[in-house]
Amino acid sequence: MKKLIAVLPGDGVGPEVTAQAVKVLKTIAKKFNHEFSFKEGLIGAVAIEKTGSPLPKETLELCLNADAILFGAIGDPKYDNNPAAKVRPEQGLLELRKKLGLYANLRPIKTFPTIKSSPLKDEIVKDVDFVVVRELTGGIYFGEKCRKDNGQTAFDICSYSKQEIERVTKFAFELSLKRKKKVTLVDKANVLETSKLWREVVQEQSKQFNNVIIEYMFVDNASMQIIKRPTNFDVILTENMFGDILTDEASVIAGSMGLLPSASIGEKTSLYEPIHGSFPKAAGKNIANPIGSILSAAMMLEYSFNLKKESQIIAQAVTKTLEKGFGTKDIVESQPLTTSSFTDKVVYELTSKN
Ligand code: IPM
Ligand code: MG
Repeated sequence: MKKLIAVLPGDGVGPEVTAQAVKVLKTIAKKFNHEFSFKEGLIGAVAIEKTGSPLPKETLELCLNADAILFGAIGDPKYDNNPAAKVRPEQGLLELRKKLGLYANLRPIKTFPTIKSSPLKDEIVKDVDFVVVRELTGGIYFGEKCRKDNGQTAFDICSYSKQEIERVTKFAFELSLKRKKKVTLVDKANVLETSKLWREVVQEQSKQFNNVIIEYMFVDNASMQIIKRPTNFDVILTENMFGDILTDEASVIAGSMGLLPSASIGEKTSLYEPIHGSFPKAAGKNIANPIGSILSAAMMLEYSFNLKKESQIIAQAVTKTLEKGFGTKDIVESQPLTTSSFTDKVVYELTSKN
């Protein structure tokens, strides 16, 4: 199989972890005789520094022409607490999501039995396996924003069209068919008009999926249930901002944000990125956890290229490496490995003949 992968390393630890995922993809290509080529593009704070724009035209062009996109991380503390800054690195990612129509953001939350770094009790996090489907191109993130009264009042509009809700709902229901066949819609339908529309649409669509159990939950309650009884969930469907918040919370179950991958499914091209941010304090130190990025590459193989076997082999190699007690600083206490040496262990599992 021949594929062009756009690589957008971005900011902070983004370049370090992305390089590891590329290493793993190259190993897979060699093992299974695929031809993956990689082309890098600028995005985020590094792009602002070099071009003035967080999403240069060339990068968008590269992404539009690629078969899939591997993304690192975005953000730089120098733009935080600086409300006067006209451009922010994050705008690059938001614009890319919008322009590529990346409407369904999948964030699987799974526990690895050998990792004990979650602050939650063992019996709570044991066997957790759910996935959040977060709508990614609508809601308050993309509604009209405004300042009035000489800047003394501000508003952000949260808006959803029926069509926007329908396509991501369909995606979530179909995904649940391959899993435990349960969808939980998380909203705030006791207060918000957009949430009422979400319920209407989901109720209507659920009729076409008779064998799927549908559950409705208010977001405040969901934020509690996720850490109280996480094994109750299978597919959580939610709007953009609730999904942003709940997935950071859910990452605590796995034990480290560095472990979790994500896929942002688009109409044409899809994007894959670890859910962690740019982690500026760790940048350049070769200590960040590469697993989120490596598993994002595995999701790319499954969702964009339909290479299920190759995808599973990566996930198994990561699990095996963890079972042997290897890990980066965020997940193991004694003798943590560096970003690159951990990946070398994963590559060893991929290439050894046992
Ligand atoms: C995420 C991030 C982004 C978001 C930021 C970087 C704009 O937090 O992907 O979860 O809010 O969507
Ligand atoms: Mg977030």
